[in-house]
Order: sequence, then C-alpha cells, then structure tokens
Amino acid sequence: MSEIAATLEATALAQFLKGSRWIYPLVNAGHIFGIALLVGAVIPLDLTHSGLLKRIDPRAAASLLQPFALTGLLLAFFCGALLFITQAGDYLGNPIFLAKMVLVAAATLNAVLHLRIERARGSAVRAIALVSLAIWPTVLLLGRLVGYHIG
Ligand code: HEM
Repeated sequence: MSEIAATLEATALAQFLKGSRWIYPLVNAGHIFGIALLVGAVIPLDLTHSGLLKRIDPRAAASLLQPFALTGLLLAFFCGALLFITQAGDYLGNPIFLAKMVLVAAATLNAVLHLRIERARGSAVRAIALVSLAIWPTVLLLGRLVGYHIG
C-alpha cells in the first residue's frame, strides 16, 4: 500500500499540485464547492423522502435536487482525489481519513440503492433517506477533522 502511495505522490501531477501557489487552493475550493452542492441538495432531498418534511412532494424535490447532488458528488470525488495524491501516504495512515472514505463509499452505495428502488416508495425509501441524512454530514465532519491533522 505504501508503495502505491509513494508512486502517486511522485507523479508529475502530484508534484505540480504540491508546488503550485494557486492551483492547490483552487482544487481545495473545488472540493468544498462540490461538498456544498452535494450536502445542500441531499439534506432537503432526504428530509422530503424520509417524511420529516411533508410540505414538498418528494418527486418534485428529487427532480430538482438530484442533478445538484450528483454534480456535487462528482466534483467532490474529482477534487478530493487530486488533494489525496499530494499526500497519499499520510492520508492512508490517518484513521479519520480512512473512516471518511468508508462512509463516502457507504453513502454512495446508499444513494445508488435509493435510485434503484425509488419507485417502490414506502419504508425502504424512508430508511435509506434517514441513513443518508446521518452519513453525509458525518463525512463532512470527518473531512474537516482530517484538516486539523487529527487521527
Ligand atoms: C472520494 C471522495 C473524496 C476524497 C478522495 C476526499 C479527499 C479529501 C482530502 C485529501 C482532503 C484534504 C484533507 C486535508 O485538509 O488535509 C479533503 C478535505 C475535506 N473533505 Fe474530502 N474527499 C472526498 C469526498 C468528500 C465528501 C463527499 C465530503 C463531504 C460530504 C468531504 C468533506 C471534506 C471536508 C469538509 C474537507 C475539509 C476541507 C477544508 O477544510 O479545507 N470530502 N477531502
């Protein structure tokens, strides 16, 4: 694993990002923008699908918010991967980062499950929405803790 991390860190792209005064902060801002789009869309989406917010039709919420959530997730993935390769060894040795990645995978699978059974509705959709509501903000918190070098 450490060899893979060292190879990633030695790539021209990782070296360029590390040495750049403006590009690395821009990528970091891109990561945060992706997170804002993702979490900002997912929370109202999950509130409507869990039944906690009854005023809005869940189908209307989904058609408006799902594209924002997907765009945010793709942006967070892309920029997150670029941030990762600059210090892959440190991140892979950080339990908070690893916990964050496990939860990102779990929340993404949960979202795929949601899309697959969306038409079924009922208690499964409500449970999936509640799980999502718990996991994405936890990912956000763990991501921030990594920045404080806790782990
Ligand atoms: C595959 C997806 C992702 C990867 C590879 C990734 C990777 C990273 C990396 C390497 C950092 C820099 C940590 C540091 O400060 O040293 C970071 C920061 C962060 N990530 Fe992610 N991340 C991903 C997805 C997400 C998602 C989906 C969220 C939130 C829902 C998130 C939340 C955060 C937060 C809040 C920060 C701190 C940003 C800051 O304060 O500058 N990440 N991420």
